Amino acid sequence: MSEVIVPEKEQIARLAKDRDAVILAHYYCIPEIHEVAHFVGDSLGLSQEAARSPAKVIVFCGVHFMAETASILCPEKTVLLANAEAGCPMADMVEPEALEKRKAELPGVPVLTYVNSSARVKALSDICCTSANAVAVLKSLPPERILMTPDRNLAVYAQSFVPQKEVLLWPGFCPTHHRLNLDEILELKKQHPKALVAAHPECQPKILEQADIISSTSGIIASCGKSEAREFIILTECGVLHPLKKQNPGKTFYEPRTPMVCPNMKKNTVQDIVKALETLTPVIKVPEEIRIPALAAVERMMAVPRD
Ligand code: 13P
Ligand code: SF4
Repeated sequence: MSEVIVPEKEQIARLAKDRDAVILAHYYCIPEIHEVAHFVGDSLGLSQEAARSPAKVIVFCGVHFMAETASILCPEKTVLLANAEAGCPMADMVEPEALEKRKAELPGVPVLTYVNSSARVKALSDICCTSANAVAVLKSLPPERILMTPDRNLAVYAQSFVPQKEVLLWPGFCPTHHRLNLDEILELKKQHPKALVAAHPECQPKILEQADIISSTSGIIASCGKSEAREFIILTECGVLHPLKKQNPGKTFYEPRTPMVCPNMKKNTVQDIVKALETLTPVIKVPEEIRIPALAAVERMMAVPRD
């Protein structure tokens, strides 16, 4: 695998030190960002790292809801989103007003919200989850009926582990994962019969039925690393291929013919990080009246032990 050279690497390290900043990046960001970040992870890992870091400034390379989560957890820190235009279309599929209306129709039914949601939606929810802990969080909830927002694919997947519970779905989905075509995956499996299929739970159930590994981004990376298999078909955003190839030089990773790209994650550039560190903008700050109830939902999630 060819080395990724980032000319701005030293400049960024110097600026980050001067600003007392930590650079957090999601796996779906471009490889150049992985090379300059202090920590690269999945949504859960990034939230935990934001809460743990002693730095005064957090530069988030990811999408808007991730920087909001950092602001919810660390109100005393300056949280910057490297590119202010990076949003998550799935998060936008649950509007606070629509959720309030649905809640009124379902008195007493707790709301479990995927972290891929706005702070305002989290504030209306009882508890949050990420793709890494959705099953554990769902299992931890005593009521039999639960409304899960916004990702219906993650909800169907998590519900399969608790058949005694009724999970009410929200019609949200991730365009990058939802569009996968079953015939294309079956063809890929035929071409690489020895390959294990690793899929993110944001894929549709018919795709997950074909998978050997179903996990969050960091779970996919860890499972492929530990596995005895030498070949893998990767069904999540193509950003994970950088750490997978770097950490496993003897293994081969295949992706669908039409690569899975999250255009919003790809908006973050190395130049954006330099600019954010120089100008200390754009700031993401969740107002206290939203942050306090949103924090309660995030903290309830963090208190649930991982499966
Ligand atoms: P992870 O929590 O698995 O990193 O997923 C976040 C995400 O946005 C997937 O599309
Ligand atoms: Fe949102 Fe999908 Fe992009 Fe993840 S991959 S940030 S869910 S649009």
